Amino acid sequence: MNTRAGFTTRWGFYLAAVGSALGLGNLWRFPYVVGENGGGAFLLMYVVATVLIGLPLLCAELILGKTTRQSAVGALEVLTAQGRSKSSLVWFGKFSIVASVLLLSYYTVVCGWVLHFCMQYFVGVFIDGPVQGADIYLNLMTSGWLQLGLTSVHLILCAAVVAKGVERGLERWVGIIMPIFVIFLLYLIFESTQLSGTTEAIRFLFYPDFSKIDFGSAIKAIGHVLFTLSLGFGAMIVFGSYMKSTMNVPEAAIRVVALDTVISLCVGMLIFPIVFSGGIRPDTGPTILFETIPMLLSKVGLNDLFGLVFFLCAYLAGLGASIGLMEASVSVLVDRKKVARSKSGIIIGLIAFSLCVVPAFSSNLLRSVQFSGMNLLHTFDNVLINWILPVIAIGISLAVGYRVKLKNLRSDFIWDERQTTMRLFGNWVFALRWIVPTLITIALSIEMFGILSRLL
Ligand code: PHE
Repeated sequence: MNTRAGFTTRWGFYLAAVGSALGLGNLWRFPYVVGENGGGAFLLMYVVATVLIGLPLLCAELILGKTTRQSAVGALEVLTAQGRSKSSLVWFGKFSIVASVLLLSYYTVVCGWVLHFCMQYFVGVFIDGPVQGADIYLNLMTSGWLQLGLTSVHLILCAAVVAKGVERGLERWVGIIMPIFVIFLLYLIFESTQLSGTTEAIRFLFYPDFSKIDFGSAIKAIGHVLFTLSLGFGAMIVFGSYMKSTMNVPEAAIRVVALDTVISLCVGMLIFPIVFSGGIRPDTGPTILFETIPMLLSKVGLNDLFGLVFFLCAYLAGLGASIGLMEASVSVLVDRKKVARSKSGIIIGLIAFSLCVVPAFSSNLLRSVQFSGMNLLHTFDNVLINWILPVIAIGISLAVGYRVKLKNLRSDFIWDERQTTMRLFGNWVFALRWIVPTLITIALSIEMFGILSRLL
């Protein structure tokens, strides 16, 4: 086992894990997938998947890192090989790194969009008078070069922070920005729920109308849970590896999951009243955040400063998540290939940059390339989150559930010998061995059945 600089405080771990979990998954992706999948019934599946799949897997990833002090690939190798032959499940650690680089390639493009809105609102507040939200959005979508430029700025920022090292890079600012953002979000929700579409929005979000879901909904709910909790990318394994040994894994996981879910629900309550009062289609897709927020500001007469603060906080949340994402692959290079941290940051940054060209041009130059009505960015997102990630999740849950000598993990999982905590450990193992793989396999099969029935 190698030694590595851990977080010096419990806070350090929470700030980094929460900083990775909270991001554009909550602000950008959550409203768009809930909208596309018909609201309440999908939301219910999402919450169930959070408890039955997200929570056990988050514990598994944290414990993988915590007990081995290694990043994704090394952690799986060490634990699954204990006293046995090397397991092919180790490959899932490698896949998770590929997934993290793939995600980086379009996540950073969306971060670039948010950055653009920030800059436009900045200009609106300090230089050039009121902003026209719809114009910003149109200009951005029609210019691939602008998107590429913004993405590069974002990638350079991420690489710089990651290259500096995890403690100095990650911990500091999440703790300051997060509370500000939450208060600000609550204020915007208050304004949004004054709009005429609120009743319809509440009904849409919380009344489970099962006629609105289709064959793909279950796997989309699961995929989003994995994405929003940063699972299957190796990121949480890395944060687990920095955890203090006295920290209690299930407690940490429950806190991270609860916060992430509550924030997503709040974002739903912010976006959907605007959708229904502004005549926007709930299934608008990946651009819904960028259409609704400017509309809210103009409808309730809030000035551009509110736009600036919102998009600045959103940008910082996206930056924190991107840093966590980059950290996952960089730490593999550092741990396994002994590449210097700064050089690793540059290498991963360059790979992500070369890949991001495709999504950056997907709404303009490459607009005509569509799969099932989705442009390339949307398709990347769909394939990665709804197909690749669930398969990785099955691999990780089986690796920890079956291959790891569980008695070695018991003391890391259970923090006392009380009956309830002992039972919790048993339930966790059962979830990893049976519930997680079975539910994901069923959801994937239903989606495949849906695709086949459409084709035939
Ligand atoms: N969970 C982050 C979000 O919701 C995305 C992410 C995935 C970040 C994987 C790091 C690693 O935006």
